[in-house]
Amino acid sequence: MTTTAQPKLSATNIDEVIKAMTLEEKAQLLVGGGNDSFTGSGAMLGHQERLVAGAAGITVENKRLGIPATVLTDGPAGVHIDATRKNDSQTYYATGFPVGTCLACSWNTELVEAVGKAIGNETLEYGCDVILGPGLNIHRNPLCGRNFEYYSEDPFVTGKIGVAMTRGIQSQGVGVSAKHYAVNSQESNRTIVDERVSQRALREIYLRGFEYVVRESNPWTLMSAYNSVNGKYAQGNKDLLTSVLRDDWGFRGIVMTDWITKREGQGLFTIDEVEAGNDLLTPGFPAQAEDIVNGVKSGKLDIKYVDQNVRRMLEYIVKTPRFRNYQFSNKPDLKAHALITRQSSTEGMVLLKNAGVLPIKNLKTVALFGVNSYDFLAGGLGSGAVNVPYSVDMVTGLKNIGVSTTPQLTEIYQNYVKFANAKLKADKNPMMWFLDTGRPKLDEIDITARCVQHEVKEADAAIITIGRQAGEGLDREIEGEFNLSAAEKAMISRVSDAFRPAGKPVIVIINSGSVIETASWRDRVDAILCAWQPGEEGGNSVADVLTGKANPSGKLTMTWPIAATDHPSTKNFPQEMDNYTFREMIGWGAQIPGRDYTNHEEDIYVGYRYFDTFQKEVAYPFGFGLSYTTFQFSKPAVKAKGKDAVEVSITVKNTGSTSGKEVAQVYVQAPKGRLEKPAQELKAFAKTRELQPGESQTLSMTIPVRELASFDEAHSQWLTEAGTYTFRIGSSSRDIHATANIKLNEYTEKVSNVLAPKTKLNLLKQ
Ligand code: BGC
Repeated sequence: MTTTAQPKLSATNIDEVIKAMTLEEKAQLLVGGGNDSFTGSGAMLGHQERLVAGAAGITVENKRLGIPATVLTDGPAGVHIDATRKNDSQTYYATGFPVGTCLACSWNTELVEAVGKAIGNETLEYGCDVILGPGLNIHRNPLCGRNFEYYSEDPFVTGKIGVAMTRGIQSQGVGVSAKHYAVNSQESNRTIVDERVSQRALREIYLRGFEYVVRESNPWTLMSAYNSVNGKYAQGNKDLLTSVLRDDWGFRGIVMTDWITKREGQGLFTIDEVEAGNDLLTPGFPAQAEDIVNGVKSGKLDIKYVDQNVRRMLEYIVKTPRFRNYQFSNKPDLKAHALITRQSSTEGMVLLKNAGVLPIKNLKTVALFGVNSYDFLAGGLGSGAVNVPYSVDMVTGLKNIGVSTTPQLTEIYQNYVKFANAKLKADKNPMMWFLDTGRPKLDEIDITARCVQHEVKEADAAIITIGRQAGEGLDREIEGEFNLSAAEKAMISRVSDAFRPAGKPVIVIINSGSVIETASWRDRVDAILCAWQPGEEGGNSVADVLTGKANPSGKLTMTWPIAATDHPSTKNFPQEMDNYTFREMIGWGAQIPGRDYTNHEEDIYVGYRYFDTFQKEVAYPFGFGLSYTTFQFSKPAVKAKGKDAVEVSITVKNTGSTSGKEVAQVYVQAPKGRLEKPAQELKAFAKTRELQPGESQTLSMTIPVRELASFDEAHSQWLTEAGTYTFRIGSSSRDIHATANIKLNEYTEKVSNVLAPKTKLNLLKQ
């Protein structure tokens, strides 16, 4: 097909432009311009020059029709681009914000929206059009290597934090790519694994967070996951990408694939993907554009799918800063954003234990143990890493508030960290980009009991940082990653044995993006602060919390189990990867569909839904987090609001002597009915402002009756059964302060009957 018409793209002539496009031009618009992030192959493929060095990908320009290229950058904890460029003295560092877990644990949607604004602004000012985040996958198991990028084991928290993030980012005139749609809750075999899940668990747990984000914040783009869902790759899964996403939820943006496209033998699944409604194939291989052209010519691919996706691509492009010809500065206000990240990291930290030692007043000198005290991990590894200008470590954070660290110990560790990091850099293996992108965890060093003893005299307190690193492509192991290593256990014992008898407190800081084991060692220490991977201002935030400059108000958005294996998903979570080569594991090289699968036998019983329903002991429950003050909850008022919603209000009073914030969490217990229900489910939450001692605030939350529904597979509908519902309001799933009942009528809502598993699953039941 040839055409001579040459309209220039505008927001009002999309039809005309589509008419003027050749088949080849259409195909090219649906296939990205290659990968720019780790090999610079965007340039290699010859589509166009690198627009932003280190960005993950681009869409291809069409000069003839006035269609600019647009730039896609990772995501999600800040803008991931190269910090330095060849023959350029300017630097392009981006602010390192807290990882997903940390941000979500703030339970503060306003704050998350402010972080989103700052991230969106850096996306814009660094010349990018879309940032590849937020990550909305569910923490199905604590061993997933990318949990740090995700928010929670609970879809409501995931959704509400995701909505806030999306609104913040998109307020800057750039887009998000909510990812990885869907059920990408493990990294092992991520590109070949078939996630086998009941329709109910899909709708209630794995898709729900995406549903909130789509319905409430209109994301410009969504990224389909690598894995397959019930026998069909997410990237080519029409049920997922069209029936659920567009027909049921009304999604209006574009879907892009995750960064590799499936190959069957040597062929691609291009036709499937285009038909499924995957508008953009990223990073993009020339062969995919050929597939589209050949598919249409041979009659295997209906042009209507191509045209439909092209239209959506153009609708996306006309919204972008590139299309508006926005003159980006390459100079976002990193100083202003540092203040925002600091505030959010402080609020996302969770105080897990405090045997009366915190906040420490009059702290002068601290003995700092653990390599991560000196090499504080701002974020995780892989595409989710950010090239940060700095990461405030514990030494600096303490120093900034006038607290010094013991000189000898500091010198030993600092020398080691310098040496070990230099060695790591020298040993860098380019094939391991996903592990090398970001800061790996260094091995602990053995500080002898004698050396520890020497520190006792010099310090007022001991702080031990336990660091963990994780990232894309690999899940975590139980030994040494979830559990403490032998060296770490020895360090805790030695420090505890020396400091506690001298009446000097031992405090542990957890510098990890994901959950670790605490039950076996927590009695040996006086306080535990989970600082997560809090972004570049971490050390400052920790110092603020330890000394009481800030009162901790973070609450866990995931259960901390006693053992990693306590989660019912353990049975079906891969832990032995011996049969796979490393390249297969990370998703490169040969991929053989159908070679691996994961049965979600725990079904809807993910996280607290399991632990609370089956009454299992945990180390720290969902929603848990200590404060330096105390709060009292009034009797709640629960009443109907119109015919489709319930309004819950409760007054929270600060009854202690320090100002602070509290989160009211509303768990709902359903009446006995036709569908089995978890013991309770979180259906609303609200955080107070900073309340002064004696001050109260009334929090009102509206819960649509639809929110209380479960998925009724038999009728392919959302169903809220009629009966009396109990609203349980508390400070964690296991610390309920007040309850109230309300009688509700039945509510139903039909949706597409799709995505049923193809094999029988042996589902967990009460
Ligand atoms: C990751 C995505 C990321 C993309 C681009 C993929 O391997 O799974 O999360 O956005 O790479 O870097």
